[in-house]
Amino acid sequence: MKVGATPENLLESIALKVGYVPRPILDTQASMIFVRAIQVAVQLGVFDALSSSPLTIDEIAAHCNLHPEPLRKLLNALAYSGYLKKDKECYRLGIVARRWLLNTNHSLRNYVVGRSLAWDWLNQLEDFVRTGKAVQIHQEMSDQQWEQYQMGMRSLASISGARVARCTPVPPGARKMLDIGGAHGFYSVMLCRRYPSLQATILELPEAIEYASPILAEEGMGDRVVYKAGNALTEDFGVETYDLILISNVIHHFDADTNRELFHRLKRALRPGGYLVVQGSILPLNANDQPGRLWDLFFAMTSDAGSWTYEDIAKWQREAGLTPRKPIYLGMPPGSGQQVAVKLAPYKRPSLTWLFKQIHLFRSV
Ligand SMILES: C[S@@+](CC[C@H](N)C(=O)[O-])C[C@H]1O[C@@H](n2cnc3c(N)ncnc32)[C@H](O)[C@@H]1O
Repeated sequence: MKVGATPENLLESIALKVGYVPRPILDTQASMIFVRAIQVAVQLGVFDALSSSPLTIDEIAAHCNLHPEPLRKLLNALAYSGYLKKDKECYRLGIVARRWLLNTNHSLRNYVVGRSLAWDWLNQLEDFVRTGKAVQIHQEMSDQQWEQYQMGMRSLASISGARVARCTPVPPGARKMLDIGGAHGFYSVMLCRRYPSLQATILELPEAIEYASPILAEEGMGDRVVYKAGNALTEDFGVETYDLILISNVIHHFDADTNRELFHRLKRALRPGGYLVVQGSILPLNANDQPGRLWDLFFAMTSDAGSWTYEDIAKWQREAGLTPRKPIYLGMPPGSGQQVAVKLAPYKRPSLTWLFKQIHLFRSV
C-alpha cells in the first residue's frame, strides 16, 4: 500500500503516469492539511459527536462547543476525503472514521492525536539530513510528550494485540516472559491471558514506566505482568531465565551493532528451547514498500537508527547462536511482522530423545 495521489478516472491516471499532474502540490500542501484536519477533528470530538446519528453543522458546533463557520470548512474537507459523508444538511461518519476513530477498545484515536509529536520532530528533518544529528526522542521528550507517546503506542497495540497473541509462537509449558521496551504492556497482557501459566516482566526506561503503568493497571493483571525499570542497552538479563523474550517496535531505535550485541545477551537470558520474538514494522528485502521506507527515514531521524529487514534480524539471531525461523507476517498495522528464533537445547550426545526434542522445537515455532 502507498500514500499519495489517487487518480479518479482514466485520464487522470494517464496524466499522473506521464508526470503531467503537478503532484508536489497534492503531496505537500494537500497532504499536510489532510493530516491536521483528521487530528483536529479527533481532538475536538467531532467524530465522537457523530457516533450515534447524523447531525447538522449547528448541532455538531453546539455538541463540541465550536464555531460553526470554520467547522463547516473542516467538515467539508473531511467529507470530500471520505472520513465523513454529507447527506443534504447533515454529516455522518464514513466507514474509516466509524471503524478506527471512535472511542472503542480498538480505536486509533490516541495514536492519531499522538502523531502531533511526530509533527514536531519532523520539523527537524532538514537539520538531520544536513548534519546527521538525530533527535534521540527517548532522551529528549518532555513529560507531556512521554504521556502522549505511551497512549499512542497503546492505541496502536489495541488493533493488533489479539492477532499478536494468536500468532506469537510460545514454547510449550512456558512460564517466564521478558518484554523489552514493552511500554503499556498490552502484548504481554494478551499473551498472558492466552497462556495462563505465563508471567511477564516488562523492562522499560523509568520515564516510560511513569506514564505507561497507569495504562497497564487498567488491565488488572496484578503480578502476572510487572515492570522492571532499566535500560536494555546495559541491563544484565541473567542466564537461562526466560522461556520467551518479546522485543516489539524497539530495534528500529537501535543501530546494527547495538542490536547484534543485544541479541547475544538475550540469547544468554533464554532457557534452552526458548524463543526470541522480534516484532515490528520489518522491511521485506527488495520490496517496493513505500511506508516501510518512510518509517525508515523517520526512525533514522528520531533515533539515529532505522527499519531493519527480516534478513538483518535473522542474521543477528544466527550470530548470537539462535536458530531463526521463517518470518511471520502480521499485516496489522501494515508492514508489521515477527522474526522468531529458537534457542536449541545444547547438543549432548546423539540420542533419539535429543533428536526428537530438536524436531519438536523446530515444528512448534
Ligand atoms: C515504539 S515504543 C514500543 C512499545 C511497545 N513495545 C509496542 O510495541 O507497542 C518503544 C519503547 O521502547 C522503549 N525503549 C527505548 N529505548 C529503550 C532502552 N534502551 N531500554 C528499554 N526500553 C527502551 C521506549 O521507552 C518505548 O516505550
